[in-house]
Amino acid sequence: MTNEYLDKIICGDSERLLKNLSNNSIHLIITSPPYFGCRVYGNETLGREEHPIEYVNNIIKFASELKRILHQQGSFYLNVGDIYFGTKGFSRNKGSYARKTDKHYKEHKIVKPDGKYLQYKQLLMLPERIAMGMQEQGWVLRNKIIWEKPNPVPSYSPDRRYPVYEHIFHFVKSRKYFFDLETAKKLNNHRDIYRNGIEPFGEHQASFPVSLIKPLILTTSKENEIVLDPFMGSGTTAVAAIECDRHYIGFEINEDFCKIAEKRVKEAKLISKSKLIFTQ
Ligand SMILES: C[S@@+](CC[C@H](N)C(=O)[O-])C[C@H]1O[C@@H](n2cnc3c(N)ncnc32)[C@H](O)[C@@H]1O
Repeated sequence: MTNEYLDKIICGDSERLLKNLSNNSIHLIITSPPYFGCRVYGNETLGREEHPIEYVNNIIKFASELKRILHQQGSFYLNVGDIYFGTKGFSRNKGSYARKTDKHYKEHKIVKPDGKYLQYKQLLMLPERIAMGMQEQGWVLRNKIIWEKPNPVPSYSPDRRYPVYEHIFHFVKSRKYFFDLETAKKLNNHRDIYRNGIEPFGEHQASFPVSLIKPLILTTSKENEIVLDPFMGSGTTAVAAIECDRHYIGFEINEDFCKIAEKRVKEAKLISKSKLIFTQ
């Protein structure tokens, strides 16, 4: 089944589409799922739960399906953001700090505070909770990478420091996995703190920078292997895979983002083809 999706971006819900991928068929997974209580992309359920722990459990359940399709020597990079428990939805910026997407918080139903974990202003530690749940599922956590953003999306509050980093967890499913430390050193990618500016792509405000993803691909997969992003967004992972001579598979629920991603991928393919002709 996996080959049917090879080098394609499939517009649909990845919770359903993943079931069509064969066991152990994907060499590398790089993704950033929808964050809890933030945006609304389509008719997805992930990210729109009422309780943050429900979200954590759903991501962990999703990860079990990723474990099934990941190759024994493969890797899974998970970028997931944290959030503050807020009065109206979650930590959305108001007034001059508001972004276009901040209106989405109104569309989320959120549980009431409980005076313990659920207290206004509480940082929920969602990435850590997800990572620990995945360890219980049998994943091996190899690195907790800090992605520092020199140009973070503003998240202003008068009584706390500004958040400027996110986690990228590097998980494997077996202790014998592929990792090329020499390439990592050459790319200056061998330390666990990265500094890459965010690169919003058109309407998509939550894109990865291509320069963040390429070193991950080059150090943890081989040429012609398959890279999957089940939350493809604007197509960054696919573009990076093409530039690294890997195959890609992308799932994306939002039709507008599918179009943006397909356009980017087409351009990346043209550039890589012209480079090939030039070097022959
Ligand atoms: C954080 S963004 C990922 C951005 C991406 N890394 C990029 O560079 O553009 C999450 C994406 O997942 C998509 N999405 C949300 N739920 C989904 C689902 N159930 N299946 C497929 N895509 C989904 C959203 O539309 C959004 O584009």
